Amino acid sequence: MQDRLEKLRRKALEELNKAKDSMFLRDLEIKYLGRKGELTQVLRKIKDLSEKEKPVIGKLANEIKKDLESAVSETKRVLERTSEEKTRLTKLDVTWPGEKIKLGHLHPLTQFQRKVEDIFISMGFEIVEGPEVETEKYNFDLLNIPKDHPSRDLWDTFYLEKGLVLRTHTSPMQLRAMEKRKPPVRLIVPGRVYRHEATDASHEAMFYQYEGLAIDKCISVANLLGTLKSFFQALYGPQVKIRSSGSFFPFTEPSLEISMSCLICQGEGCPVCKQSGWLEMLGAGMVHPTVLKNMKIDPEIYSGFAFGGGLDRLMMLYYGINDIRLSYKGDLRFLEQF
Ligand code: FA5
Repeated sequence: MQDRLEKLRRKALEELNKAKDSMFLRDLEIKYLGRKGELTQVLRKIKDLSEKEKPVIGKLANEIKKDLESAVSETKRVLERTSEEKTRLTKLDVTWPGEKIKLGHLHPLTQFQRKVEDIFISMGFEIVEGPEVETEKYNFDLLNIPKDHPSRDLWDTFYLEKGLVLRTHTSPMQLRAMEKRKPPVRLIVPGRVYRHEATDASHEAMFYQYEGLAIDKCISVANLLGTLKSFFQALYGPQVKIRSSGSFFPFTEPSLEISMSCLICQGEGCPVCKQSGWLEMLGAGMVHPTVLKNMKIDPEIYSGFAFGGGLDRLMMLYYGINDIRLSYKGDLRFLEQF
């Protein structure tokens, strides 16, 4: 009898130890301590034992009953605590303030491009965009750059298949835009261009240009210079002067190189302008008669000017940025300053 009781105690305690929820615990309690429970059955049989065994077994059985009762209440306590904890962790407090979502902003180049666009819009220009994957016909041929002409080497072109290239400049859009327009026109084409170049602080393989085109009767170099002077003064301040010198582009005649008085030394000479007092800003000129003809415009009646500059370099000068590559690194320490 003693052995049976000890076995029952071990088995009951083991099972109680494994109880993972209150339902299971209640079943165990009934199984051992309930009216028909295993221990209760034993207790009932005590009265049939000999006078000698009665006190010994009775004492042991009561001891086991107390052990099991306290094990049941301890397990109950532990289970209650775990379920309270679980509820606390999973409970949703709808009054708790939400996590603030961090908002991004436009890339500094996009912000700057819009600033440039606004200035030209205020001067009556229209903003036009075009494809970055171009045909050789538009990137070169229609711009008066015949095949095998050495001027194709002016740009290190990324050639694709089937006569396609990544546009090396925004100038092909002069022709695309004129397919849908008639003079008078005033256009600005901002956009990405690509050149197979080694990069350094002032050169990237992918960068932004802004192209300008104006066609009307009696357009002259004076209109070109006046427009560019107004633009640079609107962007950098009224103290800015511009200067032009001869250059070469197959699609303009005459071609000009436009410089602006150095913003740092006001023309006195400093390391930024290499002591010259002037900064080279863009290429420009009067639209070549052949290009006008390619646009189906009569060069005897109409004339036009065109210019093309680097938007990245314009922005670098505006903010005092010393490396063009910072714009394309995606480094938030740089981007968050704008
Ligand atoms: C042109 O691309 C001509 N299409 C410009 C033009 C348009 C002339 C209309 C006449 C009429 P150029 O290769 O010089 O020209 O480039 C123009 C500008 O792009 C440069 O003045 C410079 O500011 C910028 N640029 C050129 N190469 C790079 C480069 N690798 N990285 C950043 N900017 C560049």
